[in-house]
Order: sequence, then structure tokens, then C-alpha cells
Amino acid sequence: MTRTAVVTGAARGIGLATTRLFLAEGRRVAMVDLDGDELARAAGSLEGVTPLSCDVSDPDAVERMAAEARQALGSVDALVNNAGLADFGPLEETGFDRWRAVMATNLDGPFLVTQALLPDLKAARGAIVNIASISALRASTLRVAYGTSKAGIAHLTEQLAVELGEHGVRANTVCPGPVRTKLAMAVHTQDIIDAYHDAIPLGRYGREEEIAEAIVWLCSEKASYVTGQRLSVDGGFEATGIGLPALRS
Ligand SMILES: NC(=O)c1ccc[n+]([C@@H]2O[C@H](COP(=O)([O-])OP(=O)(O)OC[C@H]3O[C@@H](n4cnc5c(N)ncnc54)[C@H](O)[C@@H]3O)[C@@H](O)[C@H]2O)c1
Repeated sequence: MTRTAVVTGAARGIGLATTRLFLAEGRRVAMVDLDGDELARAAGSLEGVTPLSCDVSDPDAVERMAAEARQALGSVDALVNNAGLADFGPLEETGFDRWRAVMATNLDGPFLVTQALLPDLKAARGAIVNIASISALRASTLRVAYGTSKAGIAHLTEQLAVELGEHGVRANTVCPGPVRTKLAMAVHTQDIIDAYHDAIPLGRYGREEEIAEAIVWLCSEKASYVTGQRLSVDGGFEATGIGLPALRS
């Protein structure tokens, strides 16, 4: 039977690269995104996909999306909670509306989508991959909402791994380092870009496809005994302490 996946935030960036890799491996994919136009454009050039327009932070919309995904795919073998919102600002300027918007997409969304697709994931003994960030692992400036939401999703993943293990459902987190997507380029100033180059042993941003490889592997049978883990795909950022620029010179 053809295997399947639901990918949120699939219209562009890391979600679109993940969709393409799943398709290359023969899966059918439900592509979920808030941006209906961009989703239609992305899905239009792909075979074996079902585009589903949905705001993952809206419980009713998520229920409708889950029913449509179930109908289109028949089963759900993998769920990638990738849809995300980045809004960087200092604490004083992060009003409650900005905080809530980030939490709604980055934390409420994965909770709601996972819950709505749980019967399908249990029936398939499927896999969940939640996309956090290196901002989940290291606190930094301007990320009071974003970093906290990403630490939340990383812990949510561990809760899922513990609770769903008896159903054969695995749950893991991927923590990407910086990737030049629309999301990142909207918040990465030149200072931030330079700081990442200084702090990453591989000395460069990652590519969408490099993040997708880790996601697709964690969803595959090759990772059948891996659950509750956080995998940083970050060029070595997490492993690094101080002094890297000095060492290079
Ligand atoms: N790019 C990076 O540097 C980076 C680093 C670490 C983590 N991440 C994470 O990777 C994930 C993908 O980000 P990306 O860089 O590919 O960004 P992107 O902006 O290119 O793609 C994100 C997609 O999510 C969709 N989306 C946003 N809110 C949504 C909602 N409420 N409901 C449904 N869809 C929604 C957007 O329309 C967009 O298509 C995010 O969770 C992000 O936080 C990105």
C-alpha cells in the first residue's frame, strides 16, 4: 500500500522540500497551509499531493482538514508539524497579541493537528515529526515568544513519545539551524546572519533539503526504534561554545 504523510506549512520552505522528498520516496502527501494561493501554486507542479487550505491554530478548521486528509489519503502514516511563525522582538515590545500569534501557530497548531489525526496515526502505528528550532535549545536575544514556543513544541514531542509509545506511534523533534527561507529572511538582520556564520562550525546556513532529509528519515522505518529525540540539523551550532571565530583566524 502506498504510504502517506500530512505536512503542515507545505506551501514553501522546509515544508515544501519535505513534501518533495516524501513524493520522491513514493508517498502521497496532504499539503496543509494557511496561504491558499502559494499552496495552489506549489501543489500545481506536483503529482500525488492533496492541497488543504487550513490555519493550524483554528480548532474547527483543523477538524475539517483532518476529515479531508483522511478521505484523500485513506490512512496517515506520518505527520510533520512544520507550519511556523517567526516574530522577533524584545520583551517590552512583545505585546500579548504578538505573543499569542506566535504561540497559536507554533504550539497550539501542532497540539490541535496531532490530536485531530491521532486515530489515524494510531491505526497506522505512524510517526510524528515536530519542527522546533535551535532557538528551542539556546535562548537568544529577541526570541522571547519564538524561542519559548519552540521549547514548548520540543517538550510536547516528548510528551507525545511517552504517551503514544504503547500504540507504536513515534514522535521526534527536528531542530533546524538557520535556512534562507521567507520566514528566516524576514527576521534575520545582517547582524544575525553574521553571528550565525561566526557560531556555526560548518560556517554556513543550511538548505531546505538538508532539513527535509532528517525529517523524512525520522518518519521512515529506518528510524523504527527512535522516539522522543531532538535532532539538531544545524551545522554544529548546538555543539559550539565560545571562541570559534578566534580559532578560525
Ligand atoms: N528557516 C529557518 O531558519 C528555520 C530555523 C529553525 C526552525 N525553522 C522552523 O521551520 C518551520 C518551517 O519554516 P520555514 O523557514 O520553511 O518558513 P516559511 O515561512 O518558508 O514556511 C512556513 C509555512 O507555514 C505556513 N504557515 C504559517 N502559519 C500557518 C498557520 N497558522 N497554519 C498553516 N500554515 C501556516 C506559511 O504560510 C508558510 O507556507 C517553522 O516551524 C520554523 O519555525 C525555520
